[in-house]
Amino acid sequence: MKTFAAKIKSELLPKIAARKMFGLIADEMAMVEEEFARQASSNIQVIDYLGEYVRSSGGKRVRPALLILSNYACGGNGSTEGSIRLATVMEMLHTATLVHDDIIDNADMRRGRESVNQKFGNQMAVLMGDWLYMSAFETSLKERSLEILDILTHLTRKMTEGELIQLTVIGNTDITEDAYFDILRRKTAYLFSGCCEIGAILAGAEKEVQAALRDYGMNLGIAFQLADDLLDFTSDEKSLGKAAGADLLEGKLTLPLIVLCRQYPEFKHELKEIIANGTYQNGARAKVMQKLEETRMIEHIRSVALSYSDAARKNLEVLRKTKYSLVLEEIPNFVILRNS
Ligand code: IPE
Ligand code: IPE
Ligand code: MG
Ligand code: MG
Repeated sequence: MKTFAAKIKSELLPKIAARKMFGLIADEMAMVEEEFARQASSNIQVIDYLGEYVRSSGGKRVRPALLILSNYACGGNGSTEGSIRLATVMEMLHTATLVHDDIIDNADMRRGRESVNQKFGNQMAVLMGDWLYMSAFETSLKERSLEILDILTHLTRKMTEGELIQLTVIGNTDITEDAYFDILRRKTAYLFSGCCEIGAILAGAEKEVQAALRDYGMNLGIAFQLADDLLDFTSDEKSLGKAAGADLLEGKLTLPLIVLCRQYPEFKHELKEIIANGTYQNGARAKVMQKLEETRMIEHIRSVALSYSDAARKNLEVLRKTKYSLVLEEIPNFVILRNS
């Protein structure tokens, strides 16, 4: 049984952190939902249906919140048409990557319900992902900003490269930490970075501040994906709304196992067997967890994630202290403490 202190840490703190993050911008986030509903609708019935399916499944909406908070923190007005529109674009891009990612990973569950590929098939999911990407770009063009378009095309390319590079190392138990971080930056952190930088640009921030927000988003994004990879070990399907323990079955070694394999090369053999089986047999999952516990690997990787969170917080030192900058300072906590 969990101790009272552990229960508070795992259940209450994430809630408090989330409330701090979203409480300040509840009205803006409601506007993002409305805009998303508008953008994901179509007079083509099948698109309208699929659009509603992916949009209404929720999600934490971290990326649009980051754009709006960054915008306010740099002296902008996060409720303007442009901010709401671009915040929605970031969530649409994110949704498109998830729809495609679930095809690639052969995932059957997302946000507590069947993934698009599982429910409607791969063909529909590929096309719906494409449609979401293009709709996001069409919407972003309304800003008439080449600088913003530059960032969006750059980060979308990086995300695709991340997923492609990852495919080349599937099942590889010799993947290096450098290769892991390269993939992680591309597939997750560039989008976070783009959210924060675009928020700054829309606020008319000075170049130095814009760069600081870009770095903040990058460090935060790295911490976010490290936390996601840890949750795959420590959490369960019910809390995550997606499969747990899935990364290894997908042939993806994440940092805890990469470091473990470096320290205990003889462990590679067991991992290879799990990957080849495609399921955990004869208590294999418990064995992996036991090894991670024995070596205190989860704590070690959490401390790596914390170091990126600290770096993110440091990036904010250029900002004038406001209630928005203070919330940005809190987000690294949310990212690390979250349980979904
Ligand atoms: C999932 O992102 C993909 C990763 C980058 C780890 P989120 O954890 O933000 O997913 P939703 O939007 O809340 O479902
Ligand atoms: C997430 O990678 C990165 C994306 C850009 C979609 P994962 O494969 O770890 O994401 P989940 O765990 O399926 O959400
Ligand atoms: Mg996946
Ligand atoms: Mg994952």
